[in-house]
Amino acid sequence: AYHRVSVEPVGREVRCREDQPILDACLRAGIWVPHSCTHGTCGTCKAELIDGEVDHGNASAFALMDFERDEGKVLLCQASPRSDLVVEADVDVDEGLELHPVRDFTGTVTELADVARDIRVVRIALDEELRFAPGQYVALRVPGTPATRTYSLANPPTQRRLLELHVRRTPGGLASDGWVFGPMAAGERVSLSGPYGRFVFRPARPEPAIMVAGGTGLAPIASMIRHALAAPSGPRLYLYHGARTRADLYCVDEFRALAAAHPDRFRYRPCLSEQTPEDPAGGGWDGGAGLVTDVLAADFDRCSGHVGYVCGPPPMVDAALKLLMRKRLFPRDIYREDFFSEA
Ligand code: FES
Repeated sequence: AYHRVSVEPVGREVRCREDQPILDACLRAGIWVPHSCTHGTCGTCKAELIDGEVDHGNASAFALMDFERDEGKVLLCQASPRSDLVVEADVDVDEGLELHPVRDFTGTVTELADVARDIRVVRIALDEELRFAPGQYVALRVPGTPATRTYSLANPPTQRRLLELHVRRTPGGLASDGWVFGPMAAGERVSLSGPYGRFVFRPARPEPAIMVAGGTGLAPIASMIRHALAAPSGPRLYLYHGARTRADLYCVDEFRALAAAHPDRFRYRPCLSEQTPEDPAGGGWDGGAGLVTDVLAADFDRCSGHVGYVCGPPPMVDAALKLLMRKRLFPRDIYREDFFSEA
């Protein structure tokens, strides 16, 4: 059964099945509503139910508290309609953003490459083109289970049929240990949907960009950098990529080559947290020594006049946000993505 969902304040109407999350119906219709985890845990997709009945699905009690439910709030990634509805979401779309409707795709795994300790790059050739903005992600179906796992696209958006995902291994993880680091092989067929997310490169912003990535949080930022540097001109980009040791760092040769090819536009600072500043040359390491935020703090007196893009594990994201704000960057100039590496 279908119900009609009116989405305010944009005044658009979508058809939504009784077993379909409202968020999914909106994104497939090309209506942008905020979302992040798509699993009912982060609260980003919270909206107001103005009229009608919903099934709240698996909304976590933390993301949607009882009193909020009583006040008529819903999590759009979980709620499905039980009648025609009117919802009010926070649907402002930033200028200069090109966001594409979510669709289902199928493809074939073409390559698995071990690029660092417990990090594997997966390449998937799609049967059809996927249009996305650099920084967005896809949800990959885990075979033999109802589960999906989200992975940022590291390929630039001009590369619409060959996806690159960076997967970190989590011991015992259903998708990483149990599949990507297990039986997954070249030639395997996969299905996925996307694109999701709004942690995207802002082409309308002329300011130089400070990009801070932790671990596989590099993936969306790699897409942004590969995309931006392919254009004949653009803002200056600084990439700070943090890892624990040299064995945990990847894409080093590629970014060094990009920095050498674009000396005025791109500066690359790989940082190793287990390298002490007192011993920066230890083991022949010539990059940053210490936490990514400490290296950044030493490089910049002030960050005002820049924009920030931050993606990585939540503690790193928090530390980077605090630092950038202390260095005079306003929250509205910082784009962030918390990278919960789901097992
Ligand atoms: Fe995270 Fe809905 S709760 S997107």
